[in-house]
Amino acid sequence: MKESIKRIAVFTSGGDAPGMNAAVRAVVRTASNYDLHVYGIFRGYQGLIEGDLKRLEKRDVGNIIHRGGTILKTARSMDFMTPEGRKKAFDNLKAYDIDACIAIGGNGTLTGANIFTEEYGIPFVGLPGTIDNDLAGTDFSIGFDTAVNTAIEAVDKIRDTAASHNRLFFIEVMGRHSGYIALYTAIGSGAGSVLIPEVNTSTDALIQQLKQSHIRKKQFSLVIVAEGNENGTAHEVAKRVQDELGDLYEAKVTTLGHLQRGGSPSSADRVLSSRLGHSAVMALIEGNHNVMVGISKGKVSFTPISKAILGQNKINKDLIEMAQILAI
Ligand code: F6P
Repeated sequence: MKESIKRIAVFTSGGDAPGMNAAVRAVVRTASNYDLHVYGIFRGYQGLIEGDLKRLEKRDVGNIIHRGGTILKTARSMDFMTPEGRKKAFDNLKAYDIDACIAIGGNGTLTGANIFTEEYGIPFVGLPGTIDNDLAGTDFSIGFDTAVNTAIEAVDKIRDTAASHNRLFFIEVMGRHSGYIALYTAIGSGAGSVLIPEVNTSTDALIQQLKQSHIRKKQFSLVIVAEGNENGTAHEVAKRVQDELGDLYEAKVTTLGHLQRGGSPSSADRVLSSRLGHSAVMALIEGNHNVMVGISKGKVSFTPISKAILGQNKINKDLIEMAQILAI
């Protein structure tokens, strides 16, 4: 063990994601197994700037593995984007004698960690915590599986109404820059069409698809719309489609919104979070610093944070093709 790391801090930042608590639990318990002291920083970078830290011991993270949200709370900090904010953050880490940090969050969180280590040399390990699953260097991020399960459960219910009324439903799911939630939801719920930022499907092309499926005697249709797709919100797309196809289908819209961010983490997210949290502490102990811990082909992997924030987890194009074949 490197002598230098004795006290570490852990925090969650950006959008909450189911499984963050399981990751915090794994960090605290692994660290205490190796006699490291852990401090929890509340409200992410903002809490670090304001000195909102508390010692966390083994028992403090009991009874949280199954809970959604984050016991450490979270925030999107504007102050941390300023050099003055980061200086205060550094001063607080020094005041608590903290040697290294574990940051759990999405691209914004890891970008902050990257700038901070460059400026102050504090070792960081990042964990991908975002329902969007958009970080390079990991096949899956914490919260994605649960969010997809939640979305599929909702679409299953909407399907009942769509089928009973012969309606066309547009269901908007989250994913600012990524179609992962939308594509997995479409495949898992058997939806007919999906609009994602990674594939340019115009509204006109969608209208043609829907016309064709009506000719094939499809009585109802489900369209999954990723928040970040290029045609606009589900409401905007639905309006254009309704104007064209109003005599074939009645169009309805459901936006799932923050429903997708909450709830008890799935088994996959609990196991993933536990593995990543454990590996993050081991990485710090072994001197493997400034990396994001991810999962690649079933194995724990390490990617420099500077690289993870530049790339995007690419969608497998075969899956898009498969979704189209199965939805016929
Ligand atoms: O990054 C996760 C995410 O849930 C995105 O899918 C979504 O666009 C965004 O956060 C919403 O953020 P907020 O809760 O701050 O409105």
